[in-house]
Amino acid sequence: MVDKSSKELPKIIPEHIAIILDGNGRWAHERGLPRNAGHRAGVENLRRVIEACVEFGIKYLTIYAFSTENWGRPADEVQGLMNILEEVIDRELAELHENGVRLRHMGQLERLRPVLQEKVLHAIHLTQNNTRLTLNIAWNYGGRAELVRAIKQMVKDGVAPEGITEDLVGSYLYTTGCPDPDLIIRTSGEMRVSNFLLWQGAYAELYITPTYWPDFDRDELLKALNDYASRERRFGLVPGPVTPS
Ligand code: IPE
Ligand code: IPE
Ligand code: MG
Repeated sequence: MVDKSSKELPKIIPEHIAIILDGNGRWAHERGLPRNAGHRAGVENLRRVIEACVEFGIKYLTIYAFSTENWGRPADEVQGLMNILEEVIDRELAELHENGVRLRHMGQLERLRPVLQEKVLHAIHLTQNNTRLTLNIAWNYGGRAELVRAIKQMVKDGVAPEGITEDLVGSYLYTTGCPDPDLIIRTSGEMRVSNFLLWQGAYAELYITPTYWPDFDRDELLKALNDYASRERRFGLVPGPVTPS
């Protein structure tokens, strides 16, 4: 039996963790700060969580940081978030690269301002051969938009109906080449997926914690990993050893 409260690293570690980083606004509100102060605290925390993932041997980390729906927030918040992304790339890219982190982007880049698009593309290009940790940043990402884009591309490519398989659909998604997430974490207690990894998350284990994202530290991640290690993943089968039919 795995001790869920343990601060030790469990033996079973997910290969791919995806996080809906939520609660920045409420974290700031509780401190009488503007929402963007919460987003800044969230970015500082991202740095810590990336370091912990490298330390724990996680191979893929997907971060949901800006959704296709988040454009509907007040203009100054959207602007602030875009500025934060740009600053993070400027400030952190060299170190991420040195630490063997490969950056990938999930979502439509075209809606970002051109300078930011270039910075994202540069970061992807610079780190493309790194293998220690793949960090997928979902920014202007929505699971439905991703599927619509994949379907359009399949039609453009002239894929015949009988050629459409689950593997083929997967290859048209932003996550092509990444295994499906084993564990999806959502901070701030909200019990929904909010348009995240609709296809890839089919059999992910879900872990929801009331902790706001800026406070989700290494110990909180360890708690999530211990909880994950105690789960039985069945993938629609019955428990116990596989028996021949
Ligand atoms: C998550 O925090 C960050 C983004 C969605 C960009 P929120 O900004 O959603 O924080 P809450 O949910 O309002 O507390
Ligand atoms: C989900 O959080 C999107 C991201 C974390 C980027 P939201 O705060 O936007 O989601 P809802 O509105 O609570 O569903
Ligand atoms: Mg939120």
